[in-house]
Amino acid sequence: MAVKMESREFFAVAVSTAKEVGAYQRSQFGHDLKIEFKGTIDIVTEVDKKSEELILKTIRQHYPEHDVLAEEGSGERKDSEYKWIIDPLDGTTNFAHGYPQFAVSIGLEIGGEIIAGVVYDPMRDELFRAFKGEGAYLNDRPIRVSHTEKLEHAMIATGFAYNIRKHIDEHLRYFKDVIMKAQAVRRAGSASLDICHVASGRFDGFWELNLFPWDTAAGVIIAKEAGAKITRFDGAPYTVYEKDILITNAVIHGEMVKTLKKGLGKRLF
Ligand code: IPD
Ligand code: CA
Ligand code: CA
Repeated sequence: MAVKMESREFFAVAVSTAKEVGAYQRSQFGHDLKIEFKGTIDIVTEVDKKSEELILKTIRQHYPEHDVLAEEGSGERKDSEYKWIIDPLDGTTNFAHGYPQFAVSIGLEIGGEIIAGVVYDPMRDELFRAFKGEGAYLNDRPIRVSHTEKLEHAMIATGFAYNIRKHIDEHLRYFKDVIMKAQAVRRAGSASLDICHVASGRFDGFWELNLFPWDTAAGVIIAKEAGAKITRFDGAPYTVYEKDILITNAVIHGEMVKTLKKGLGKRLF
């Protein structure tokens, strides 16, 4: 019970931080930015770094003893059972190009299990959140996955990792196999929002290869609480430390596993 009370406080901190940092990102959107290259196509902006700094400052103030895993590297391991998993700006390439599809993503893991998540889309002022066992919400409205029954009527989202050029054939094989079965496939550029859009029924499913825990931690608890099914491509159990994720409205899950499995049989790496 004490843990639950405590984690509720953490949740409130996560919600207010996500909103505060989202407001900062909105204020910087469309401005000229300092950009650094982490790889050929993988960039980081000054806003990613400042956003992480702001989130870390709040967590350190309230919970200096907690572990933090954050994309831009300012997290620390303290061997606590509490771990914050943070993507300060998910959708950096969109942000840098002035395309309004990005989010702040904050997940909380306790004893190895994700128990709460917040994903805030500052441009739409949409806050997705969930606490284990209590349902998922978009702002103050409860959300559920779609009822779409067949893959041929489904709109599916995906994304491409920064190392896509290295594994292009495998990525394109999955893409081709799904596009030949689904009604439509979309690639919007923010994994955390893709997942929340499955949770809210806007997409019927999502798959991606080579994501990191900060891309998925908050989203997966939100999607689970909204009734989504989450596995690896072959239907095996998923944790945020796996590299392949498949999320659906549960109804079309079997069809998606069957479709992705065709490509898995021919894995190149
Ligand atoms: C990326 C986005 C994108 C996904 C990439 C991620 P970032 O995160 O979520 O949609 O396809 O795999 O790395 O770099 O913008 O935080
Ligand atoms: Ca990300
Ligand atoms: Ca990021």
